[in-house]
Amino acid sequence: MADFLTNLREVEEEGAEVIGSAATLDDLENARIEYLGRKARLTQLLRQLPELPVEERPSAGAEANTVKRRFQDLLESRSAEIRAQSRAREAPEFDPTLPARARWRGARHPCTLVINEICEIFREIGFVRARGPEVETPDYNFIKLNTPLDHPATDEHDTFYLPGGLLLRTHTSPVQARVMEKTEPPIRIVVPGMCYRRDPFDASHAPAFEQIEGLAVDEGITFVDFKATINYFVHRFFGADASTRFRPSFFPFTEPSAEIDVSCLLCGGDGCSACKGTGWLEIMGAGMVDPAVFENVGYDPERYTGFAFGMGPARIAMLRYRVPDIRLFYEGDVRFLEQFAPA
Ligand code: PHE
Repeated sequence: MADFLTNLREVEEEGAEVIGSAATLDDLENARIEYLGRKARLTQLLRQLPELPVEERPSAGAEANTVKRRFQDLLESRSAEIRAQSRAREAPEFDPTLPARARWRGARHPCTLVINEICEIFREIGFVRARGPEVETPDYNFIKLNTPLDHPATDEHDTFYLPGGLLLRTHTSPVQARVMEKTEPPIRIVVPGMCYRRDPFDASHAPAFEQIEGLAVDEGITFVDFKATINYFVHRFFGADASTRFRPSFFPFTEPSAEIDVSCLLCGGDGCSACKGTGWLEIMGAGMVDPAVFENVGYDPERYTGFAFGMGPARIAMLRYRVPDIRLFYEGDVRFLEQFAPA
């Protein structure tokens, strides 16, 4: 009995050590064969039980079975440990319970949304979209528009000049001249596009900005058509409650010229910080096309009349979406831009 127990303790100690330090599932299987298999020393010890005196057999058998159960438990827990370790090694950072990341599908820029909406309103009343180059000649940007090169608007402070006598257009009005040269009246166009000016980049100015030009030319167009068209547009875009104000102004290519204000969207005309207490917000420059421009593009100024207007979609988007700083439109911050994403 003493020998039996000594052998059993030896086997137990050795087996527990070997099973506990198995590094792989293969090692573990070998340990199982070695300590619990048919030829294992423990198995042999169990076979020796009948040789012990009868009264010692039950306790010796119980001891041996305890060792056997201990080996089985150890094998099971070591196997679980090894499998957990190899899972962690394969994908150490992967957490399958994390929710999937939502995909950002992109959104139209707020200025593009405003341009599309404005062009659509004008499309319904017969205006088609036209385009022109952003790199222009002084001839189209100024001279054909009745703006002599010594006019203050051509000053270097306002215009980006390029090598070779070209410039970045300072407004979309040159497209008026380009379209009129190629087309006979009647003309009804809207011209969205980028313009460039040497302006400071501050809360209300950007050196690169969108404009939408409008031009209507035909026989018999009067100031009444001009006013009615602008009023129609303002009511469609800003709502039936909006009112307009035509203020006398000056542009070299329109006569008479006007700046058009819309009643403040925020305070409804009572006066607030957005409209600087005036109750009005300026939305565009406009006027009846100057006969000198018709002459410059080869139209008979006795036969044709028309009106033109130019507005800034970014300024209008500021009003529409209550954006306090124009720079937000041009910084490309997705956190700002995604707010305009369609749902
Ligand atoms: N081109 C002018 C500007 O940039 C706006 C304008 C367009 C005025 C058409 C009159 C007619 O300020």
